[in-house]
Amino acid sequence: MPKYSAHMTSNRSVDFFDEQFRRQVRQRELQLNPFEAAALPHLSGQVLDFGCGLGNLACAAARRGCRVLALDASPTAIAHLRATAAAESLPIRAEQADLRTHALRDSFDAVVSIGLLMFFDCATAFTQLVQLRAHVKPGGIAVINVLVQGTTFLDMFDAEAYCLFAADELPRQFAGWETLSCDVQRYPAPGDTVKVFCTLMARKPGDMGAPPA
Ligand SMILES: C[S@@+](CC[C@H](N)C(=O)[O-])C[C@H]1O[C@@H](n2cnc3c(N)ncnc32)[C@H](O)[C@@H]1O
Repeated sequence: MPKYSAHMTSNRSVDFFDEQFRRQVRQRELQLNPFEAAALPHLSGQVLDFGCGLGNLACAAARRGCRVLALDASPTAIAHLRATAAAESLPIRAEQADLRTHALRDSFDAVVSIGLLMFFDCATAFTQLVQLRAHVKPGGIAVINVLVQGTTFLDMFDAEAYCLFAADELPRQFAGWETLSCDVQRYPAPGDTVKVFCTLMARKPGDMGAPPA
């Protein structure tokens, strides 16, 4: 059976995570990571998880009443998330997609992209960041997390295509929004390397309108 849908060519980063996800599903390692746990209390209404991985955040948000569109290229992740959503009757639509080229149709009360954009070449990463920003409703929030410059753990990247933003790039991109939090965190990684993350949570100017019925 092909691992990817027709429009998805093989991709080293997706292969890396698909293998990790197979092990995590087997071992029932399904807890929120710290970035997802920090994002969860800010989510409401219609939520986009762009690069959802196993969908732990999508499920947690849906259990709290959010309606979630969850997108990722990993077939293992999407199959797992669909099975969980079906078993619990959660309002989640999970789709396998190449997010380098994916065009969004709707706008969302919350747009989340944790740990995805660095797997694209920089031109693509910036194009998709602009798209994500544009698809947050007025008064809605964006949660964006990326690896930034200073990161020396590179094993999961496709050598041809990855992007480490400058540490101040996300706040620059969201100038004019209300910053809820903006953190740079360093984590030790294998082989005496480090991962440096920037996580921005920001609210788009404007009125959210009436709360959903
Ligand atoms: C570091 S994981 C983050 C997953 C999840 N957001 C989390 O916090 O656990 C990176 C995710 O990006 C996905 N990914 C990488 N390249 C992709 C692409 N071109 N299209 C769609 N998903 C991609 C991988 O399948 C993986 O799920």
